[in-house]
Amino acid sequence: MSEKIFIFDTTLRDGEQSPGASMNMQEKFRLAQQLVKLNVDVIEAGFPVASAGDFDCVKNIADNLRGVQVAGLARCHEKDIDTAWEALKKGENPRIHTFLATSDIHLKHKLRMSREQVLERAVAMVRRAARYTSNVEFSAEDASRSDLGFVCQVFTAVIEAGATTLNFPDTTGYALPDEFGAQIRYLMEHIPNIHKAVVSVHCHNDLGLAVANSLAAVANGARQVECTLNGIGERAGNTAMEEVVMALRTRADRLPYHTEVVTEHIHASSRMVTTITGLPVQPNKAIVGANAFAHESGIHQDGVLKERTTYEIMNPSDIGLTKGNLVLGKHSGRHALKDRVEAMGYTLTAEELDRVFVRFKEVADVKKEMFDEDLESIVMDEVLRIPEAYELLSLLVMSGSRGLPTAAVKLKVDGREVEKAVIGIGPIDACFRAIADLTETSSKLLYFAVSSISGGTDAQGEVMVRIEDNGKVVVGQGADPDIIIAAANAYLNGLNRLVFLKRGGRG
Ligand code: KIV
Ligand code: ZN
Repeated sequence: MSEKIFIFDTTLRDGEQSPGASMNMQEKFRLAQQLVKLNVDVIEAGFPVASAGDFDCVKNIADNLRGVQVAGLARCHEKDIDTAWEALKKGENPRIHTFLATSDIHLKHKLRMSREQVLERAVAMVRRAARYTSNVEFSAEDASRSDLGFVCQVFTAVIEAGATTLNFPDTTGYALPDEFGAQIRYLMEHIPNIHKAVVSVHCHNDLGLAVANSLAAVANGARQVECTLNGIGERAGNTAMEEVVMALRTRADRLPYHTEVVTEHIHASSRMVTTITGLPVQPNKAIVGANAFAHESGIHQDGVLKERTTYEIMNPSDIGLTKGNLVLGKHSGRHALKDRVEAMGYTLTAEELDRVFVRFKEVADVKKEMFDEDLESIVMDEVLRIPEAYELLSLLVMSGSRGLPTAAVKLKVDGREVEKAVIGIGPIDACFRAIADLTETSSKLLYFAVSSISGGTDAQGEVMVRIEDNGKVVVGQGADPDIIIAAANAYLNGLNRLVFLKRGGRG
């Protein structure tokens, strides 16, 4: 019988540690809802003591989501543990996840503590956490570079103190798969009370081995894998959830384990992470990259047309990929739209569906054929919308091989109509300058990217910008069949996010 592997998702905590990936409270909640649909076992919602914003995000998720364990991170400090519990306590089976480094490098240079002190602190803090909940995870930070005898000593003691999950992180992404697997086997064989706890792994991807290391750990006794969607996370990121889950599913012949993740929601979840964080997925990324199921060579295309399994080891529909599906036209009704959106893995409130329907009709009017990708972009845009201080009322752009590119922009700024015409180096530059003047922003544009959502010259353009103001970095997105309008919307979306943060929205 195949054994269950618990999926501990840390997209909202370690994933958010990716540079520039900060998410606001509404976005974190929306992503957490998506993780519930994916049916992960544990959501690590944040690090409650880190800031008031983090505390509120964890509390909001713990208070309002059911059907999942919600975890909060805490250093081995009294205040961290108490604060984590305050944020988590209304959750269903809430988990306090406390950590302390065990490697000599960390003890000597970072903690300036002896092994005895680390052991004593770990036990005391696990005991404190266990007074609040029976669901306590202890992580030995930098475990893979620690003396294994010492890790065994710490793990044995914290199990006695009440830890029910023991996490063995490869914090620096240093381990090799055979070595990491052997380390897990060593723990399984040398910790006398190991049967009282679940062994977990948390791998970073510095050498591109996070998924391989996680699978090696599973083969040697680990039963929880910590991971993130799209593999986002500190530095080179974490184990990519979609890769571990699909590897276990696809290679069940060699890996007799299973997860309870509903894989059909993987594609939608991955898109949501990209939209929220502004971290694009490389086209050749396994499972969720744009090319993951694309066949370019004629020989491959011919093979797949004759028999899909000639070149496909997974069925695209297993991850919810419906790429290229012609969905609806401008005459389609609200019901058809709702059915399609649900089939794509999104659940919308009635009010969100109304907004999506209005936008859908607008776009379908211009673009005759609407594909799933077009619909998905509208859903993301409308669902993740934040309150708008700035709204685009009209945009007129002149550009070409002669004359100066000019943009005339009319905005609503906090309810007031304002307009301006500006000359620029190109049409986008002119448009952005006009918006910057009208909104009086002092922010800097860090990144601008435009891509096409589906094929053809009538495809919608999708623009992503990253802007920075006073050390705060936000992402803005916009989509429209006209790429200049998409760019203006993306820029305004970013500026609206900055205003939202300044006015007290959580970042
Ligand atoms: O990478 C790491 O060691 C961590 C711990 C807090 C689990 O993120
Ligand atoms: Zn980590």
